[in-house]
Amino acid sequence: PPPTVVDEGDSLPFDPAACPDRPAHDRILLVRPTHFDVAYAINPYMGGDVDRERAFDQWRTLRDASDRYVDVTVLDPDDGWRRYGADVVGADGLSDPARPADHPDLVFAANLGLPTADGTGVVLASMATDERRGEPAYLAAWAEQAGYEVSSPPTGAFEGTGDALWHPDRRLLWGGYGVRTERAVYDDLADRLDVPVLALELTDDRYYHLDVCLTPLDAEAALIQPEAFTVDGLARLDEVFDTILEIPVDESLEGMAGNAHCVDGQHVLLPAGNPETESVLRDAGYEPVPIDTGEFEKAGGSVFCLSLELGTPT
Ligand code: ARG
Repeated sequence: PPPTVVDEGDSLPFDPAACPDRPAHDRILLVRPTHFDVAYAINPYMGGDVDRERAFDQWRTLRDASDRYVDVTVLDPDDGWRRYGADVVGADGLSDPARPADHPDLVFAANLGLPTADGTGVVLASMATDERRGEPAYLAAWAEQAGYEVSSPPTGAFEGTGDALWHPDRRLLWGGYGVRTERAVYDDLADRLDVPVLALELTDDRYYHLDVCLTPLDAEAALIQPEAFTVDGLARLDEVFDTILEIPVDESLEGMAGNAHCVDGQHVLLPAGNPETESVLRDAGYEPVPIDTGEFEKAGGSVFCLSLELGTPT
């Protein structure tokens, strides 16, 4: 398949099942929530007071649960924040030399970048909002010392795996755009990563990232919130996935159920408190692993946003 972007309304110029295999991204990067807070509102869910101790407990539970299925690595913003922040910044011109405390959303690792198809590299994000602009510099510094090939962000707003999701096992990328990420970045990414991109438009602020309304489960199945997509977008999802499981609207909006993470094609980590979504998953043969992420939901994020999938560096 050619490395082009296919828009929703256009007919597929290739057979998605014929996309070559891709090694699993079997490592998860988490960012320690030392500075996590709700200090501004850039999505409709943000508000309320964060209980820091509880946030830490919830994050540790997520870390330990993830660790049962995949390799987990932790980026500590305080582990020499000059290295992760200020010092990197001047050099790459990436952002402002802010202290970690000025990045209360840094814990949402998914938004910081996108792994390459083979997982040995990572493309940095360029955040849509001023509030988060300085964050990808932390990933840049960490990933470089960890041995990943780090490449510069595309031109335009691009929020990493918040909006760009790899199709499981295949060299095929889903590209959400319209709220945070701009459609134009996918032309560059298709080219650079040498993969076709299936673009999906998001038009509703409540579904501000693709990862709050689409959870790929395996090469054949996905869990979605249909309300988030256009008619053409839904048709595309239907065309590519044999099985589409649906989340009830209230569990998406009140429980962030769409921000689930299928870590190994079988176990699905999802925010606790979504019994209907759990039974939809169980009925389809998946194993739901509920995790309490209530504190992070006050910032509009949950299980998937807190994790950045990566491969192993060469
Ligand atoms: N407060 C963060 C923001 O609005 C939450 C990010 C959640 N991340 C995600 N991938 N959905 O940017």
